[in-house]
Amino acid sequence: MDGYLTRARQPSGMEPRDLSAHVAYEAGRGVEEVARELGLDPESLVKLSSNENAFGASPRAVEAIREFAPSVHTYPKSSAADLRDRLAERWEVTPSQVWLANGGDGALDYLARAFLEPGDRVLVPRPGFAYYGMCARYHHGEVATYELREEDDFEQSPDAVLEAYDGERIVYLTSPHNPTGSEVDPDDVAAIAEGTDAETLVVVDEAYGEFSATPSNAALLESRDDVAVLRTFSKAYGLAGLRLGYALVPESWADAYARVNTPFAASELACRAGLAALQDDEHVERSVEGVRWAREYMYDTLECHTWESAGNFVLCAVGDGTAVADAAQHEGVIVRDTSSFGLEECIRITCGTREETRRAVSVVNSLL
Ligand SMILES: Cc1ncc(COP(=O)(O)O)c(C=O)c1O
Repeated sequence: MDGYLTRARQPSGMEPRDLSAHVAYEAGRGVEEVARELGLDPESLVKLSSNENAFGASPRAVEAIREFAPSVHTYPKSSAADLRDRLAERWEVTPSQVWLANGGDGALDYLARAFLEPGDRVLVPRPGFAYYGMCARYHHGEVATYELREEDDFEQSPDAVLEAYDGERIVYLTSPHNPTGSEVDPDDVAAIAEGTDAETLVVVDEAYGEFSATPSNAALLESRDDVAVLRTFSKAYGLAGLRLGYALVPESWADAYARVNTPFAASELACRAGLAALQDDEHVERSVEGVRWAREYMYDTLECHTWESAGNFVLCAVGDGTAVADAAQHEGVIVRDTSSFGLEECIRITCGTREETRRAVSVVNSLL
């Protein structure tokens, strides 16, 4: 496949556009896939590689999915409108400022569609979430990076971002940051937005926002027209498989959504489940509590350097990340090898239930 993608464009024959700068998204490996490969019982495996919710889906959302399953022959109109209304109330914005999408990834696509002209550049963190650069390339954009330095504990300071900034159209920040767990607070986001051109949009990805005690950057939308915030139902609400996320955008250009969104951007069941999940504080609290416990447990008991994390995962310096992740997998514990993030010496462990987290720590410690 790689050979095919990098081959010079032939004048005849059907082929896609030049995709040589594109890379495939590498998701954390699934239980079934690993079990099949290793000849193990999937039940015996612990999967802590994709930052999923160890406490499962919001039970209220599951109930709503069952209840509304018979109505999937209709397009999701009123449910999407209701969900935008509820989210608007929650974030104190207007419904038009809520850009519903097929996961947070879908919301990133819409922002890129709305902002990028062919050849525009975006600025993404390294290490960082791969999809920022991928979706910019899908939209004919180009990608520059700013470095988060290990010696600075991957701090996302205005200096680190603005030093690298060179007029890019979109600057991406992640708070809590994947895979390091570091954060950017609203003062620093405002400083970054101030330090960039008036035409530059600062996107703050808060996919893991519920697990953090730092206030959301959504409050900046009240006073600024150059900041957008990304949120998702995949993590704290446990609805990763349903694909539901959204961007919160400034009012002044919120109506661009109608011009760029895929019709019915979020499915009927996703919207119904989202509405129900928003009522399910108990599940969110349980998930957040569980994550707090697991993070502390990992800091205290892993026999290697860890970084303090505001997300539902902990980055650990284990020496040879790929070797440790491979060996852990043979012991039935799937963790994320972070070499695709450029962190060869690390692994990222998602917060599991108490039992899962204890097992993961014990396996990783035995491999150090
Ligand atoms: C930093 C970050 N942003 C966004 C996402 C996208 O999540 P989703 O598309 O499931 O909402 C993820 C998923 O892991 C993530 O880690």
